[in-house]
Amino acid sequence: MSAAPYDVSPLTMIHEVFPGDTNDYGTMFGGNVIALMDKAAGICASKFAHENFVTASVDRLKFLAPIKQGYVVEATARVVYTSKHTAGLEVIVTSKDRKTWVAQHCSRAFFFMVAVGENGKIKEIPQLVPITGEEREKFEEVRAIHRRIRK
Ligand SMILES: CC(C)(COP(=O)(O)OP(=O)(O)OC[C@H]1O[C@@H](n2cnc3c(N)ncnc32)[C@H](O)[C@@H]1OP(=O)(O)O)[C@@H](O)C(=O)NCCC(=O)NCCS
Repeated sequence: MSAAPYDVSPLTMIHEVFPGDTNDYGTMFGGNVIALMDKAAGICASKFAHENFVTASVDRLKFLAPIKQGYVVEATARVVYTSKHTAGLEVIVTSKDRKTWVAQHCSRAFFFMVAVGENGKIKEIPQLVPITGEEREKFEEVRAIHRRIRK
């Protein structure tokens, strides 16, 4: 497939941390953070390729800071790598309290999403063309991770 991506812009999911999201320490469950990241990655990949995607793997997942109840949490996904059927997305999570609205970096990971058609078969996707030096570097970093996962 040689078609250009439909949309390469990032996508942000916003969530308010309620009591049902938290553990005994009043901070957000890791699994709920991952679910938010996964949703952001899936929707962003779909916006990029106009296809449905399944999550094939997650790599380099890090929880860097707890997210407190009442805070606003944002998961921002962007496509940083593609191969024939796979989009690699970087997802970065920040939290903000409602008094200062200063963003704290809380989590990050790479998600690998594979396009799947209605017949359940994998589908080719448009290919990302990294332009800046930073984009090319990230593309190569994520390509190396994808190759290692696939060995
Ligand atoms: C992901 C899935 C579609 C891959 O299908 P498959 O037939 O096993 O995979 P193949 O070996 O033919 O590879 C197909 C593509 O998937 C990629 N892929 C497969 N497993 C992968 C993994 N664990 N991580 C990253 N990419 C993977 C391959 O690199 C290939 O893409 P490419 O041509 O762009 O390199 C299949 O394993 C699956 O459906 N898994 C379950 C997904 C799921 O339920 N996710 C949670 C809910 S969304």
